Amino acid sequence: MTSSSLRNDNLIYFDNAATSFPKPPTVMEEMMKFMKSIGGNPSRSAHSMSVEASNIVFEARTKLAELFGVKNPMRVIMCFNATDALNLAIQGLLTEGDHAIMTSMEHNSVARPLKELEKRNKIKITVVKASNKGIVASEDIARAIIDTTKLVVVNHGSNVFGVVQQIEEIGKVCRTANVPLLVDASQTAGVIPIDVGSDNIDLLAFTGHKALGGPPGTGGLIISDNFDHSTLRPLRFGGTGSYSDKTYQPTFIPDMFESGTLNTVGIAGLLGGIDFLEKYGGIQKVYAHKKKLTKYFYNAARDNIRKIKFYIEPEICETGVVSFNIEGMEPSLVAQKLSDEYGIMARAGLHCAPMAHQTMGTFPRGTLRFSFGIFNTEKEIDRAVDALATISKG
Ligand code: ALA
Repeated sequence: MTSSSLRNDNLIYFDNAATSFPKPPTVMEEMMKFMKSIGGNPSRSAHSMSVEASNIVFEARTKLAELFGVKNPMRVIMCFNATDALNLAIQGLLTEGDHAIMTSMEHNSVARPLKELEKRNKIKITVVKASNKGIVASEDIARAIIDTTKLVVVNHGSNVFGVVQQIEEIGKVCRTANVPLLVDASQTAGVIPIDVGSDNIDLLAFTGHKALGGPPGTGGLIISDNFDHSTLRPLRFGGTGSYSDKTYQPTFIPDMFESGTLNTVGIAGLLGGIDFLEKYGGIQKVYAHKKKLTKYFYNAARDNIRKIKFYIEPEICETGVVSFNIEGMEPSLVAQKLSDEYGIMARAGLHCAPMAHQTMGTFPRGTLRFSFGIFNTEKEIDRAVDALATISKG
């Protein structure tokens, strides 16, 4: 299956860091099956349709727990996307007077909730600057930790530059200092193996609609087996289907964090995405494919587009996310031409990550970003390189 096999306009989709496309057929199948013949609200009723829906959700929790190395599936909290999960962790953990650390590679999904708490005079923030290759030194995190530090938040894989942080090392630093580590795995879940236990991660936010292949509206927060969930306050309160006689929020997981009806059809689709990933050959194969396409693009682009500028070397560009510019041209105009004249979908600008661009010297103009998925091919890259070569002469 290629991008164009689901559309007949011969488009090339290189915006998988925004959301993956096409979705695997199993995703649509599971969603249709849920809509047509399951349909119930999980954990709300004892009838068979509700029980079947509960089983789907439990199966998804179990698969996600296996994927991220957490033993208890109830520690997989279903959220609506990674931003939702990050807000639950950040707003749920920090209280007045706390200090938090983030890196200069964060997306606004981390920066904005933290800055909002700072604006309300609730917390203080230290931003640990990454090197000019986008790498954060664990020693710099260690140096930034002070007595009042209650949270370290680290972007695992940059949505702009594809560079990946040494989470295990940073995790060790956080463990030694006894400070919880929250990891934003929006771009790495399904691409880089993550084990919250051995990587020393306390909380992991993931999205379902990128490399896991699921539909939008899915994602979650993984609470590691040793993390005391009672230190986290819920973001939302309401019906959970449990302890209906009580007007107080339950205090057990996952219910305490999952008020209101879940995105069951989305979760069914996410399950289809994870199943497809297993059949495809697992995360290692996804990583290998994206790495291969990345190297292929760098080589072809450097050979054919004189004015192309990359910001990091392909060796450290890990997740199929490549930022570049055509010297002297606005990235947004190049992206527009690619879409309008060549049917190539790419994202340009700041990608909701202004600090990452400041770190890498690409602020405020931003970059043009290609983000490859498992269905992309070298042939598509050839077409894109030809298009860029023509545009760059224009
Ligand atoms: N954060 C997503 C991106 O990088 C939406 O495009």
